[in-house]
Amino acid sequence: MAEQKKKRDGFGSKIGIIAAAAGSAIGLGNIYRFPCELGNNGGAAFLLVYLAVVIFLGIPVMLSELFIGRRSQSNSVGAFKKLAPKTAWPIVGYMGVLCGFLIFAFYSTVSGWTLEYIVKSVANSFQGKDMATLESDFAAFHNMGWRNVIWQGVFILLTGFVVFKGVQNGIEKYAKILMPVLLVILVILGIRAVTLPGAKEGLAFLFKPDFSKINAQVLISALGQGFFSLSLGMGVLITYGSYVKKSDNLTSTAFSVVLADTVIALLAGIVIFPAAFSFGVNPQAGMGLVFNTIPMIFNQMAGGYVFCIIFFVLLAIAALTSTISLLEVVVAYITEELHLNRRWSTVIACVGTMLLGCFVSLSLMENTPFTIGGRTVFDALDFITANVMLPLGGIFIVVFVGWRLGKTHFFEEVTNEGKLKSPLKTVIFFIIRYLAPLAVTVIFISGLLK
Ligand code: PHE
Repeated sequence: MAEQKKKRDGFGSKIGIIAAAAGSAIGLGNIYRFPCELGNNGGAAFLLVYLAVVIFLGIPVMLSELFIGRRSQSNSVGAFKKLAPKTAWPIVGYMGVLCGFLIFAFYSTVSGWTLEYIVKSVANSFQGKDMATLESDFAAFHNMGWRNVIWQGVFILLTGFVVFKGVQNGIEKYAKILMPVLLVILVILGIRAVTLPGAKEGLAFLFKPDFSKINAQVLISALGQGFFSLSLGMGVLITYGSYVKKSDNLTSTAFSVVLADTVIALLAGIVIFPAAFSFGVNPQAGMGLVFNTIPMIFNQMAGGYVFCIIFFVLLAIAALTSTISLLEVVVAYITEELHLNRRWSTVIACVGTMLLGCFVSLSLMENTPFTIGGRTVFDALDFITANVMLPLGGIFIVVFVGWRLGKTHFFEEVTNEGKLKSPLKTVIFFIIRYLAPLAVTVIFISGLLK
């Protein structure tokens, strides 16, 4: 136990909490899932709801999770056991661990594609192709089911390796440098995208809201996307919060992470939609939206060959810092609650994910037998985690902080026992106690009833 404790602390001490939390938040959720959801849910109207979600719910929920983690110094299940002994609250933590496992199983599929696309861009296989060919190549790739499974397996192994070995002095340090590079590349891509012929229509789709499009489906999708993109509702931030030093400022951490995550998502939108409209891609194209549009932009850019490689490498790294956090939730739980060592915990979690992951990847083939209730296993897991489990976890987390732990504990922790000023703490606590549970519940129920 002493040894496990040491390792756990080591993970947090050498990396900035902001880098770790932003690393978890920024990933395929911003660059791949955000444009898909926005395209499928009416464009700018979705964006407005999304921004409201991240500001008014994202920040308070994130702060609640960091607070629970640092207060309890425990994994997501242990945290509830410690802070509310002999109650049913740890169920929230168990749900988070399960949710982390399920997200990892489909997230790693898309992560695997980033590896395939690195290879493709190195081989210069996008050069000179038109949109229709890129689209059919993408579809053909999905039909090579086992190729997807293998890339996914490679990505899971990579994540497992880092979680077991190198978090302290490897990846997080690089991520701190590489994520700003990703930002720069997105800006360059954005400039190219908005200057393409016909780009204006794409910008209008993104920024000119048609309020009549806001309905229950848009609300629940924006809520789910907000939670997904900020890694909320399943204990990532509880687990990471437990590694945070007592002298760190939790409130400013939450603000910085939400800001960074939102900027990257917006930039992705500014890249994808003008380009999609310019190339005649349907904004509802879903999975292909990003994977086909981006190579096409590079095709039309000086130095596109090199930029394209750099882009997919960075996308893979952004995905990796997110999968690390997903796996860390599961591994922290297994080591601390089931008392297995870190190596075996990692092996068990990775093998489990690979097994489920096979069904996820194979469910994207034409005529796949792997469907659940009419959806592919991929879509079913995406829907149930992002739109159901994360918001539900979020409700329980804010209720736990607002009603069970209460104001005094919360103020103590966010002001570092009175040593820090936290001018917004009263407003944020009000949101945590009343507004957030109410808003999430209403959106959630309206989404279920639709
Ligand atoms: N936030 C990550 C992304 O946007 C995905 C994620 C969700 C990671 C939930 C951890 C927990 O890519």
